[in-house]
Amino acid sequence: MSAQTTTRRLTQLDLAKLRASGEKVAMFTCYDASFARLLDGAGVDSLLVGDSLGMVVQGHDSTLPVSVADIAYHVAAVKRGSDRPFLIADMPFGSYQESPAQAFRNAAALMAAGAQMVKLEGGREMAPTVEFLVQRGIPVCGHIGLTPQSVHALGGYKVQGKGEEAARRLQDDALALQAAGATLLVLEAIPAPLAAAVTAALHIVTIGIGAGVDCSGQVLVLHDVFDIPPGKKAKFVRNFMAGASSIADAAARAVTAIKDGSYPAPEHTYAP
Ligand code: KIV
Repeated sequence: MSAQTTTRRLTQLDLAKLRASGEKVAMFTCYDASFARLLDGAGVDSLLVGDSLGMVVQGHDSTLPVSVADIAYHVAAVKRGSDRPFLIADMPFGSYQESPAQAFRNAAALMAAGAQMVKLEGGREMAPTVEFLVQRGIPVCGHIGLTPQSVHALGGYKVQGKGEEAARRLQDDALALQAAGATLLVLEAIPAPLAAAVTAALHIVTIGIGAGVDCSGQVLVLHDVFDIPPGKKAKFVRNFMAGASSIADAAARAVTAIKDGSYPAPEHTYAP
């Protein structure tokens, strides 16, 4: 049975099979049971309970105030609302950086809430933590490039990996995370050719957001897909409500656009 026709809950092995078969992985962020049901019906492969919930649900101006309890609450809701998509929980700021043992404690709480994998931000410096979690049965998704939890260190939400030195560092980070046992890797806001090179150099699944079409899949922030709220959006955002007959139709169009490679288009990508 292919991942597309499977009705049981997908696993990380199914996502790996999608990469191997050349089919793009369609991932959306999701925070509640109703949208989880709608996105499951639209055919998404994976739902990420992202710490973006701090901004789009809680109204903060960054992801920094989100707690483990917040993510666990939303993971449980998303799990109740969905049957098939692979569920990933974001580890919030301050919940994993202190030590691998701290990361394990908090990741275990998110797995107990219903997640099948946790995501954490950072490059080679997080490799020992990734290895610690993976060796103890917790699958890990890395997240490099623009890492929103470091917004103050980065000096704003800026494109990363520009220039030879930065590109080389990012590539090394990706290899270090893969070697540590990460099985998914989010690449956020980096030049498209760099994301393509990183994807080609890795065997694990890469998920782009503002990283061009050559990743193994894409993650879309729910509120961006439906153009909520209106206002200035990042260059990589496409309003899938335009021309759609309903939000379910918009979600289905987004999945189709990821799968057929028409999203992201060149106008959604960053130059080196
Ligand atoms: O929190 C989030 O929504 C994310 C995605 C942007 C990848 O981390």
